Amino acid sequence: MDNKSYQDHYFKKAKEQGYRSRSAFKLIELNQKFKFLKKEIKLLDVGSFPGGWLQVAKKTIKNGKILGIDKKKLIQIEGTRIIEGDFLEERSKNDILKFFNSKINVILSDMAPNTSGNKSLDAIKTNELCLSILEFSKKVLDKNGVVVSKLFTGEDFEAIKIYAKETFKNIRFFKPNSSRDNSRETYIHCNRLNT
Ligand SMILES: C[S@@+](CC[C@H](N)C(=O)[O-])C[C@H]1O[C@@H](n2cnc3c(N)ncnc32)[C@H](O)[C@@H]1O
Repeated sequence: MDNKSYQDHYFKKAKEQGYRSRSAFKLIELNQKFKFLKKEIKLLDVGSFPGGWLQVAKKTIKNGKILGIDKKKLIQIEGTRIIEGDFLEERSKNDILKFFNSKINVILSDMAPNTSGNKSLDAIKTNELCLSILEFSKKVLDKNGVVVSKLFTGEDFEAIKIYAKETFKNIRFFKPNSSRDNSRETYIHCNRLNT
């Protein structure tokens, strides 16, 4: 299948299954691989708009807490809380801490900057966002918690890998099939904080 057919395939599938984005299938595949969604967890989803990942998370998390944050305004999803704000701002981080009021079990980030048309620059910006997620996780994640974040191969990929290895006992990479439209996009899965 070429890229266009791939995009059309997942677009159709998302519509049929009631998901707000094709990205929903990336989280489904990531969870099939790493099995981090559980019934009673506290989950933070950063870069949630339009909400596909929150919809997927909500299907499994029944007695936990789910918080999404994005710069863009989301339409509410029942059983989740949503903050409209920039994750990089201290105020947003304080709001996140206030909402959970204890350590978080799973932190997801599908954050992506507005594309500039310059692939190298976009990769650098995406990886900066990934790094900010890993740094934040160090402070707020349960010691047996999980982080899953988008990142791009190339440029500062190696530096992020080194930082993740210093911070977590296990790190793995996985590129879902549904991510094929963007060749440099991949996801890092980290668990068990080094204490
Ligand atoms: C690929 S989309 C996420 C799709 C989402 N996972 C879903 O399933 O529908 C990336 C999102 O990251 C958000 N984003 C980028 N930088 C951000 C930041 N600093 N703070 C909050 N959200 C950010 C963008 O606004 C965009 O909506």
